Amino acid sequence: MSKQLQALIIGASRGIGLGLSKELQQRGWAVSATRRLLAGAEESPEIKWLTLDINNLQQSTTFGQMLPLEQFDVIVVNAGVYGPDHQSVSSTTQDELLSLFMTNTFSPIRIANAVLPSLKANTGVLAFTSSKLASLNENPHADMPLYSASKSALNMLTRTLLPATESRGLTLLSLHPGWVQTELGGAAAPLTVQESVQGLANVLDNYQGKGGHHFVDYSMQNLSW
Ligand SMILES: NC(=O)c1ccc[n+]([C@@H]2O[C@H](COP(=O)([O-])OP(=O)(O)OC[C@H]3O[C@@H](n4cnc5c(N)ncnc54)[C@H](OP(=O)(O)O)[C@@H]3O)[C@@H](O)[C@H]2O)c1
Repeated sequence: MSKQLQALIIGASRGIGLGLSKELQQRGWAVSATRRLLAGAEESPEIKWLTLDINNLQQSTTFGQMLPLEQFDVIVVNAGVYGPDHQSVSSTTQDELLSLFMTNTFSPIRIANAVLPSLKANTGVLAFTSSKLASLNENPHADMPLYSASKSALNMLTRTLLPATESRGLTLLSLHPGWVQTELGGAAAPLTVQESVQGLANVLDNYQGKGGHHFVDYSMQNLSW
């Protein structure tokens, strides 16, 4: 009998994170997942819920320290925000910028560093929910510029993890989930959460043991940086 695969999804109270947690659990994985508030966790008792606000440095450090070493096959850092609706550099405040870039760029890398030792060597996958909008090639007109810039910077900082992941045979992924019907994606998005997370789960399955750093969408297409 094969051993049960284990996943940790960070930022899973709703949307893609919650959908992906449920999808992996239904595929037979043991799933741990985080949310900022425990309220609502009772609706998905099949998931092991942990609390974490990725912007809280103290919580992030303690969170990493309490995880067993080499426990997870996959860790997905999924938490993210859109930032101000106007998406205008000229109109934005310093507080808005700080909040956007902390949540989408710096805190994901910080929590990734904290949880890295709990990924299984050789086959472990560390994935970030990025966006196709992060790419100059895929987003030539810089649509949604503040949000997109925060994800471009996330992709760049993700690359700084490569020496640490390569030395343990891990695989790094920057994922594009598609444009998805969530609070962030809005009702006009073409993809349901279910369609996106089925694809993302296939990607996570497929990339175990591959090594390197890949920018991939939910349909397993490679994207240009
Ligand atoms: N939807 C799309 O079309 C789309 C496209 C490309 C990329 N993405 C990316 O996919 C990821 C998930 O987005 P979504 O569409 O599912 O959005 P969503 O429904 O708005 O969910 C965002 C998730 O991030 C969590 N989160 C936000 N700030 C956090 C923090 N400081 N600490 C911990 N968790 C935090 C939220 O938790 P709370 O409930 O506590 O706020 C929520 O669980 C994001 O990184 C997003 O940028 C989405």
